[in-house]
Amino acid sequence: MKVGVVGASGYVGGELLRLLSTHPDVELNMVTSRTYAGEYVHRIHPSLKGFIDLTFSPLNIDKLTENDLVFTSVPHGKALEIVKRLYDAGVKVIDLSADYRLKNPKAYVEYYGYEHPYPEMLLKSVYGIPELHREEIRNARLISSPGCMAVTSLLGLAPLLKNNLVDTKHIIVDSKIGSSGAGGKPSASTHHAMRAGVIRPYKPVKHRHTAEIEQELSIIAKEDVKISMTPHAVDLVRGILCTNHTFLTKEVDIQQLWKIYRGMYKGEPFIRLIRDTKGIYKYPDPKFVVGSNFCDIGFDIDEKNNRLVALSASDNLMKGAAGSAIQCMNIVQGFNESNGLKYTPFTPV
Ligand SMILES: NC(=O)c1ccc[n+]([C@@H]2O[C@H](COP(=O)([O-])OP(=O)(O)OC[C@H]3O[C@@H](n4cnc5c(N)ncnc54)[C@H](OP(=O)(O)O)[C@@H]3O)[C@@H](O)[C@H]2O)c1
Repeated sequence: MKVGVVGASGYVGGELLRLLSTHPDVELNMVTSRTYAGEYVHRIHPSLKGFIDLTFSPLNIDKLTENDLVFTSVPHGKALEIVKRLYDAGVKVIDLSADYRLKNPKAYVEYYGYEHPYPEMLLKSVYGIPELHREEIRNARLISSPGCMAVTSLLGLAPLLKNNLVDTKHIIVDSKIGSSGAGGKPSASTHHAMRAGVIRPYKPVKHRHTAEIEQELSIIAKEDVKISMTPHAVDLVRGILCTNHTFLTKEVDIQQLWKIYRGMYKGEPFIRLIRDTKGIYKYPDPKFVVGSNFCDIGFDIDEKNNRLVALSASDNLMKGAAGSAIQCMNIVQGFNESNGLKYTPFTPV
């Protein structure tokens, strides 16, 4: 199967190349970058030297249609046309931008500041979280890979909403994310001198991922769910931790929670439940998932305040981006779902 990657010089593009370079079922055929067209891939992604012998191609959509499947990994707003043209040409597309994630076109005006030019396409696109939409992904032609904090938070919260355990109007998502989440294009605030050592809140209200988390939780709960989200930039390169605060509407104990989480994620290859009383790893911590496609999930109950805390950790470039996208490719192509993704996390990092 021939695969192309658009935006292959970026951080997510580089992670896709890493995973695809050793994937047993695909031939990496075309990788694009406007800036680095003609350069060898390893000049921009030195770690891939010896694994990929290609040079970057300029962005030529007609040429990209020679592939069976194309990943688009460009900034939001820039994938709209590329995805539409590839889809219309019959190519399967997995888009890692936000351009086809939301079902309600009005949400694009509110959260992304543009009118969606192809609202009819939003209903054709399947939201790419296998743990939530595996059967739809199997038959999809357009898959929209989730936001990194969105997938991490959603995997922690989904079992609670599925079992009608929590107040659907008072959910607080407190997330922390490493610097690679902002992509490879530098700015004054992402420069090392300014970014190192920070615990920096940004977008304390109305972060863009709010829209997709609410969309997906509302589908699961079968009612309108509201979340309050505040992300923080922290001093990591890779990694996300979501501390999801919820308020119980039913009595539940820890044993029942184990049952609920195990019930939803039994057999899932990339979910690990982490809640231990011994050892150094008692609750999810991004340090122990980096480099892997795992989302680690834990929980605890604050009985006095009726609060249930669901903790979830992932590598933003893996389960938060390229790993989820490859998992979706495996499903849609009928490959073993874990192919190209069987990496243990790196420790120590
Ligand atoms: N970083 C994360 O943790 C993460 C996680 C989940 C999803 N995402 C999403 O994935 C996408 C890529 O993110 P990233 O972090 O990899 O960003 P990045 O490092 O800035 O890379 C962006 C890529 O897009 C290309 N590009 C930029 N403008 C373009 C345009 N107008 N047309 C075509 N190509 C263009 C760039 O190469 P050239 O300019 O050379 O063409 C580059 O290869 C974004 O939509 C982001 O929101 C990121």
